[in-house]
Amino acid sequence: MDRRKFIASTGAAAGALLVNPTTSVATNRKSGTRKRRFALVGTGIRGVNMFGKDLMKDYGQYIDMVGLCDTNPGRLKFADGYIGAGCPTFTNLEELIKKQKPDVLIVTTEDSSHHEVIIKGMEMGCDIITEKPLTIDEVKAQAILDAQERTGRNIIVTFNYRYPPYRAKMKELIMSGLVGDINTVDFHWNIHHSHLMYYMQRWHGESDRGGSLWVHKSTHHFDMINWFLDSEPQQVFAYASLDRFGKKGPFRGKNCRSCAHTAKCPYYWDINKNQILKSLYADNEQHDGYIRDNCVFRENIDIYEKHSAVVKYMNGAVLNYSLTGDTDYDGYWIAFNGTKGRLEARIEGYPGKSFAELIFTPIDRYTDEKPKIFRIDFARGGHWGGDPLMMDKLFKDPSMSDPLRQQATLRDGVMSILCGIAARQSVAKGVPVNIKGLTSLEPKTKIS
Ligand SMILES: NC(=O)c1ccc[n+]([C@@H]2O[C@H](COP(=O)([O-])OP(=O)(O)OC[C@H]3O[C@@H](n4cnc5c(N)ncnc54)[C@H](O)[C@@H]3O)[C@@H](O)[C@H]2O)c1
Repeated sequence: MDRRKFIASTGAAAGALLVNPTTSVATNRKSGTRKRRFALVGTGIRGVNMFGKDLMKDYGQYIDMVGLCDTNPGRLKFADGYIGAGCPTFTNLEELIKKQKPDVLIVTTEDSSHHEVIIKGMEMGCDIITEKPLTIDEVKAQAILDAQERTGRNIIVTFNYRYPPYRAKMKELIMSGLVGDINTVDFHWNIHHSHLMYYMQRWHGESDRGGSLWVHKSTHHFDMINWFLDSEPQQVFAYASLDRFGKKGPFRGKNCRSCAHTAKCPYYWDINKNQILKSLYADNEQHDGYIRDNCVFRENIDIYEKHSAVVKYMNGAVLNYSLTGDTDYDGYWIAFNGTKGRLEARIEGYPGKSFAELIFTPIDRYTDEKPKIFRIDFARGGHWGGDPLMMDKLFKDPSMSDPLRQQATLRDGVMSILCGIAARQSVAKGVPVNIKGLTSLEPKTKIS
């Protein structure tokens, strides 16, 4: 997306420049020497790895890390040594911004506090790169939209799921008109129960902290479909239930380390066997009571394991979506059914194969036209090679061209969570929920 379109779509008067107003953009460009100043807020596992240690190793020559912030002083101390950026650390965000004057905050806090960090950061003159989900409910989303409009700062949401090369190929094929106008999308994502366990153990299991998997996880999936269809959601109807974890469990303890049921519990997990997780979490519980190995059968888990939704899009397409959270399989099936044919793929979460196959079947099966198979190698790096591409654009060369619009805007971040928020409300009320009216954003028929 070019700069003019970005401003039009976000209402950001100040545009997309990731530079603090206390410094002159012209001077930076002219001298070509000043590195952009970043601060990392939230030094949990995501922060210290992808946006900490890995960022410094792979992009340290392009950026300055000028501050680390976390509300837990012990985790912050560990992060300081582990990341090795050698910059000051803060438990107070305001103090960090005042003293270190970062251009950009990287937000990797718990989902429920993203809005506080984003709003404070923008009000104090920073641009924002935030982890997904943007936030967890429509009220916080509106507060972010309002603050962005007031301040004119830029927000990028790190939807790394847009970047794997085979997904870029899917997007290209759809944009080329291969499948014609898309009537329906079938999209079914499975999470292995050993993976689901990690969500159930932590704040992700509590709806008011992670928005439920409808928001925390499905934000990625709804964003992919919004992006592929180049249209925004109009209405959502959904079902969901919790069948095995939380209060449905046969017994429960305080946490794995102190539990009396370890011998018979299929989800017993010893955090002390993982030195990094122990140092980050178990060793710092006394500061804030954050328990990393909570019982997956604790009573206050109120999210779902199985999720089914139908989403009607502004352009007339309909998405049939499911997120099955308690299976013995990690992976997904996706198909786009268009007026000219069907484009589909089945992708393993932990692939044995080194490539993805996209299969296009022309609509008229009585002609001689054969299905076409597009084979795309997985690239090196996280998420089938998507993460390094996203990081290059964010940290190495922000002016890199983006013909497929892979870099996600604030609007994209809002629209993807609104699908999940509407699904959550639909489950609770038993009725379809409109996207229009949840925030001030009116869904569009065409995004780009
Ligand atoms: N894109 C992806 O594939 C992906 C993968 C993993 C995590 N994430 C996202 O990254 C974020 C962090 O995940 P995590 O697993 O590291 O979580 P975590 O709970 O391990 O870490 C969050 C950290 O934020 C700190 N914190 C909470 N509120 C704060 C505040 N107001 N100010 C400063 N620090 C605060 C906590 O003390 C904790 O150290 C989440 O939003 C998550 O959704 C994205």
